[in-house]
Amino acid sequence: MKNAFDRSRQLHINEIVKCGKDPIHFINNYCKIQHPVRGTIPFLLYGFQKECIEQFIEHRFNIILKSRQLGISTIAAAYAVWLALFYRDKNVIVIATKLSTAVNFIKKVTKMIESLPSWLLISGYEKNRQEVRFSNGSIIQASTTSGNAGRSEAISLLIIDEASHISNLEDVWTSIFPTLSAGGSAIVLSTPNGVGGLYYDLYTAAEAKKNDFNPIKLSWDLHPERDQKWFEEQSRQLGSRKRVLQELLCQFIGSGDTFFQNEEMLWLTSLKTEASKDPENKDCWVWRSPVPGHRYIISADVARGDAKDFSTFHIIDVDAAEVVVEYCGKRSPDKLADIIDEWGRRYYNALCCPEQNSFGYMTCSQLKLKKYPRLYYMKAPKGRLDGYIPTAEEMPGFVTDLNTRRIALSKLETVIRRRKLRSYSSRLMQELDTFIWEGEKARPMRGKHDDLIVSLAIGVYVMDAVYGEGTGNFVADTILLSHISKSSRPLKELDGVKPEVPQLKNNEIRAPILTSGYARANAPPSGMLDFDWVLK
Ligand SMILES: Nc1ncnc2c1ncn2[C@@H]1O[C@H](COP(=O)(O)OP(=O)(O)O)[C@@H](O)[C@H]1O
Ligand SMILES: [Mg+2]
Repeated sequence: MKNAFDRSRQLHINEIVKCGKDPIHFINNYCKIQHPVRGTIPFLLYGFQKECIEQFIEHRFNIILKSRQLGISTIAAAYAVWLALFYRDKNVIVIATKLSTAVNFIKKVTKMIESLPSWLLISGYEKNRQEVRFSNGSIIQASTTSGNAGRSEAISLLIIDEASHISNLEDVWTSIFPTLSAGGSAIVLSTPNGVGGLYYDLYTAAEAKKNDFNPIKLSWDLHPERDQKWFEEQSRQLGSRKRVLQELLCQFIGSGDTFFQNEEMLWLTSLKTEASKDPENKDCWVWRSPVPGHRYIISADVARGDAKDFSTFHIIDVDAAEVVVEYCGKRSPDKLADIIDEWGRRYYNALCCPEQNSFGYMTCSQLKLKKYPRLYYMKAPKGRLDGYIPTAEEMPGFVTDLNTRRIALSKLETVIRRRKLRSYSSRLMQELDTFIWEGEKARPMRGKHDDLIVSLAIGVYVMDAVYGEGTGNFVADTILLSHISKSSRPLKELDGVKPEVPQLKNNEIRAPILTSGYARANAPPSGMLDFDWVLK
């Protein structure tokens, strides 16, 4: 007959196995946390926290977009403890923005370990401020990004806390991602912090199902103890609409230093409209057909056609104050000239001004050769454009240098800020999301494009130079407002043909990781747990 000792030992063993199989059971029954007001309390998971942990088990790569103070760092710590304690040789790495955050994470970890009943603490451990080493070979280590250079050992679980605030996350990711290849998993979590950057890319691509991350979005109101009053109180403390949107409502908001201010970005976003795609050239998006009597400008930014950059052009309806056609694709400069020639003529010989530098030279000379009827020469005096006779060598088009680029961009900024030109394009919005001020200079973020922005800026420059009211004022408000778009009808109705409108394609969202698919994360299928080492 078994004695009481054996019986309780057997119960403990059963319980250890149960905990090893089920992190939620482990956390709910045995982990303790430090509550700011209530002191040490059992960690009873809220519903959404439990669901997060289920996701961690189900998906190898998880990315969390969260409101502040939802206890997500805490569940990540509990999950790390579970993994390291019940499995051998698990290498858990936590990366934080600040040393204090890293140290705090380890504090949560040690608090949980120290509050476990001794029979459940199945592995000895040593700790310091930044790591806990278990005698089963597992380790939980927290550091800042700088403490991570040259890391090479295989990682079982990577946790990146407040990822959007880590400025060199790209570098960290590039160096650390290979160490996950042996089956490691990742939890990347953050409140949003502006548009752009790797965290933003990973999250938006995950939502578009363009990478292997499982996106989890957690708004403030998931928390069972929070109500409208709490929200209002927090909002008051945060002080600005932008911070409320980001830190409570999980919205990525263009940060203060994007080229356009938040208001302009919201305005342009509200205008976004699906375009008709030219059936022969799907990269060509059309919002309006040519309207008799309206004046048009066609501007372009020319790339080589096979490289990373895109060639782009815009047709602006000066009288309706809107962009009516937009092209963004990869054609060689002379092919681009053919397309511009065709579309420009279609829009009543739109005044044509491609960028003239480097590859643009080919496009411009090709257009000249084709005798495009209305080319824009920078030297031509205002008002005499059509009568201007260029010399044989003179090239039409916009000559870009630092100064002209700055002028064109500032004109673009002005027309949009004054709501004097409308663009409906999601592709343009995408570029604007990552087009930022760096000191005095506006430029795309690393790895991002500005081809559409530049083309449109050239168009606006020409609009101002030719049709502006002399003093750099753009076409008078009255003319613009009276025309805004009501006068023009969509392409479909005019042409009688129904251009095919394919699904809005999700453009150029970089997929930073594409593994060969989801392997289940750390937990092996139940029943396959190997506990021999525990029970010795
Ligand atoms: N289930 C829970 N019950 C009680 N308090 C919790 C719970 N989860 C988290 N907390 C507490 O909420 C606070 C915020 O947690 P933290 O993990 O820092 O949030 P986040 O990382 O989401 O901002 C901490 O004091 C933590 O102990
Ligand atoms: Mg946190």
